[in-house]
Amino acid sequence: MSETTVAPTAVQDAAPGAAGAAAPWWQRSDLAYRHGRLHLGTTDLDALARKVGTPAYAIRAPRVGEKLRGLHRAMAGALEPAGLDHRIYYAIKANRTPQFLSWLAAQRLCGADICSPGELLHALSCGFREEDISFTGTSLGRGDIAFLARFDRLAVNFDSLSALERFGALCPGREVGLRINPDRGIGYGGSEMLQYSGIEATKFGIYLDRMPEALEIAARHGMKITRLHFHAGCGYLDREAEQFAAVLDASRAFIDMLPDLKLVNIGGGLGVPHRKGDKPLDLGRWAAAIASAYGGRGLTIAVEPGDFLVKDAGVLLASATYRERRKDTAFLGLDAGFNLAMEPAFYDLPCEPVPAVPRDWPAARFTVVGNVNEALDKWAVDHPMPPPEPGDVIVLVNAGGYAASMRSDHCLRGAAESVLLLD
Ligand SMILES: Cc1ncc(COP(=O)(O)O)c(C=O)c1O
Repeated sequence: MSETTVAPTAVQDAAPGAAGAAAPWWQRSDLAYRHGRLHLGTTDLDALARKVGTPAYAIRAPRVGEKLRGLHRAMAGALEPAGLDHRIYYAIKANRTPQFLSWLAAQRLCGADICSPGELLHALSCGFREEDISFTGTSLGRGDIAFLARFDRLAVNFDSLSALERFGALCPGREVGLRINPDRGIGYGGSEMLQYSGIEATKFGIYLDRMPEALEIAARHGMKITRLHFHAGCGYLDREAEQFAAVLDASRAFIDMLPDLKLVNIGGGLGVPHRKGDKPLDLGRWAAAIASAYGGRGLTIAVEPGDFLVKDAGVLLASATYRERRKDTAFLGLDAGFNLAMEPAFYDLPCEPVPAVPRDWPAARFTVVGNVNEALDKWAVDHPMPPPEPGDVIVLVNAGGYAASMRSDHCLRGAAESVLLLD
């Protein structure tokens, strides 16, 4: 052991993958240690990392297909008996890797939710049809609106009175959607940062008190409001069921004002487990709440999840760069920084670092850091793992959503390959 490495201090937590160790919380049938080597589907992640180099993203497409099929089953099972149809749009802002999007479009399991002209062109270029795309953007300029006006089969939802007014002037008589603000929020573990409404006034959507003006603008331009949209926050699980019901309930006052309504889009925000103790969202219970809020109204209910579909299907592969003690803390460095997956630093939604091939040593505790010159560039603090050697492959789990799509070139450390796994 070199002078700069840390003498491993044994801790109680079982080392992932070690013989006899309890299964780590994130392990599942397609993300598991086999013979001491971490596999995503049939792919040995250590072997993949050594071939393509690190840092690199990998996403397992079949998991996304399974999630979509499960969502369709749950929605059809609860909504059809209540006289409601359903639609799913994937929020491409979560992961827009072109090879993945092209695969997804070809499955014909969902449409695309987009929020900018750039995302519209990207979704079309990857194979999504215009009529399968839903647009809900914010702070739209005149250029954005003129661009959207060209696409007469696109479902556009406007989130402000001024955007509605400008669009009406360009496209009188069109069917339009309104993004409303239900003034109720929801987010992972009650996180205020992840709530898009309900705390203070936010930039997202039209509040109930401005609805008469929205109706007046639409009437003046001969537009029919056929869609209602809201997105109240991100990452919710079953423990947030009450807030979810409150958001749906709040939306009904808006629905009652819209006689031409055909579709209610309840946004995204469905979460995945991020920490030990988090339970996967119970889709049956979730869909039953929707049926009870809107049953009998003869509507189509749309949902536009991002994270739920892709986050736990993807990982970020990194390599250990060094181990070194500073004061009482053992640091483990990686060749991947927070600029490749920003949610841990920005939203406290961890991407847990785990060894691809755990060494057969007692676990020690590490502060795991990246290679960007920012103090917040930390993957984990006081994190137990069998001490890796420099060059060992470290896998950051839950990196399929808002990692590659939000990555920056800060410190010119943004280069990372993306690999699509089909098995
Ligand atoms: C309007 C809208 N729809 C859908 C989403 C997707 O959210 P999530 O990935 O949490 O499902 C977002 C995320 O910001 C959003 O703003």
